[in-house]
Amino acid sequence: MILIIDFGSQYNQLIARRVRENHVYCQIEPPDISVAAVKALKPKGIILSGGPASIYSKGSPRVDRGIFKLGIPIMGICYGLQYMVDSLGGKVIGSPKREYGFAELLIKKQKGIFNGVTKKTQCWMSHGDSIGSLPKGFLVTAATANTTVAATEDARRKFYGLQFHPEVVHTKDGKKMLANFLFDICRCEKSWSMKSFINSAVGDIRRQVGNEKVMLGLSGGVDSSVAAVLLHKAISRQLTCVFVDNGVLRAGEADRVIKMFKKHLHMNLRFARAGKIFLKRLKGVADPEKKRKIIGRTFIEVFENEAQKIKGVKFLAQGTLYPDLIESRSAFGGPSAVIKSHHNVGGLPKKMNLKLVEPLKHLFKDEVRQLGKELGLPDDVVWRQPFPGPGLAVRIIGEITPQRLSVLRQADTILWEEICAEKLYYKLWQSFPVLLPVKSVGIMGDQRTYENILAIRAVTSDDAMTADWAQLPHDILARISNRIINEVRGINRVVYDISSKPPSTIEWE
Ligand code: XMP
Repeated sequence: MILIIDFGSQYNQLIARRVRENHVYCQIEPPDISVAAVKALKPKGIILSGGPASIYSKGSPRVDRGIFKLGIPIMGICYGLQYMVDSLGGKVIGSPKREYGFAELLIKKQKGIFNGVTKKTQCWMSHGDSIGSLPKGFLVTAATANTTVAATEDARRKFYGLQFHPEVVHTKDGKKMLANFLFDICRCEKSWSMKSFINSAVGDIRRQVGNEKVMLGLSGGVDSSVAAVLLHKAISRQLTCVFVDNGVLRAGEADRVIKMFKKHLHMNLRFARAGKIFLKRLKGVADPEKKRKIIGRTFIEVFENEAQKIKGVKFLAQGTLYPDLIESRSAFGGPSAVIKSHHNVGGLPKKMNLKLVEPLKHLFKDEVRQLGKELGLPDDVVWRQPFPGPGLAVRIIGEITPQRLSVLRQADTILWEEICAEKLYYKLWQSFPVLLPVKSVGIMGDQRTYENILAIRAVTSDDAMTADWAQLPHDILARISNRIINEVRGINRVVYDISSKPPSTIEWE
């Protein structure tokens, strides 16, 4: 494996991606990792990532310098290079000019990292500070017009440094450079695959859990579903999944989950039918954050209650992914998104004295999907569109009533049917209706109507951080609108949301 030390760069996950694309396993760890822990991981190589800090600024992230004495090849990128140079006796200088964007890289030594790379190539820079002088044993291997030390190496100790970012696509030969580090320098093998991951994860879970019981909150989404199937493969009946019906699920959702996990996959599944209590507490509440808080709190209560029925349970399993982990660590990136806090049942394990099992915590979303496929989960689970923890509650603007829920559910089902019929479901990041508290006048038959407005939201996105409104063909929009107005009583007008994120958000609340 390759160990990536996280100095806070926005590109860190890309580095990990690039390494894994080469079928080499890697893990990102924070800089406070001890040398003993590094040794225990037995990495074939270490990558020191970039980061926003200046090496001489107060509180700049540092990793134990003992890592330079382990005899393991190390590659520093941007801040990582500067940290390496500073640690080994060289000098980093604040540069009056920031270098940002494309630069022509002139390679002086077509060996090591640059083996097989043309003498002139394009790289991507993003730095303020530069290298003033190199530590003993290092030589310059590449430069740009603005940066005399764009790359350096001490081939004897197998230390390499790049001022630019090989992980971004704008560095033309970046993939080749990383592959050179992995295979020529670190001597990694191409052994990382989903199959090998399953084998090692199953072993890890069994070792961690022993004969104890584990519970898992199943939401029906990709992450918790894949985690459930993986855990089930590892520990079978020791696992109990808990599914909470919070009363604001889509139509048929609870049945789908029960059918799939209990009847088809034969798992222990506890089904908490708690809709009534959620809806009771949500009565009269229109403020979106209040709705979220009520749902979050009630969820924990119900979940805890279910946990008590599983005698002797010692572990709580969660489908936490790599980006969640990095986000919540958020050592240098400022406050992390609180969006998911409640549905990751944040405070639960501590309160209930449960230990955590997070078998997906080193995977990216698309890897989890691949894993789900490998574990035999059907496409409609693996490629399911994200659905927020507070569910339909944040898609009914204003107060939630059983009647309004019913209207939204019917519209949601029609939208889903039409989007699936057009084979658009997997192409869209999310597609859903939002029920507005606004009424408008219409005419049906010879009757005047005065009913609610429904908005349709459909977006494309890679990660929900940004999103574009989907340019759905007009005839499909026409059919959706027609069906909803005709089939759902209580709606006489359908509008299409044409706002992107930012400045809008995906959900309306
Ligand atoms: P926004 O609306 O902030 O949403 O653009 C980004 C992504 O997060 C989902 N979302 C939530 N997920 N609890 C969740 O579990 C929430 O409270 C919540 N709010 C938004 C949203 O569906 C989108 O995928």
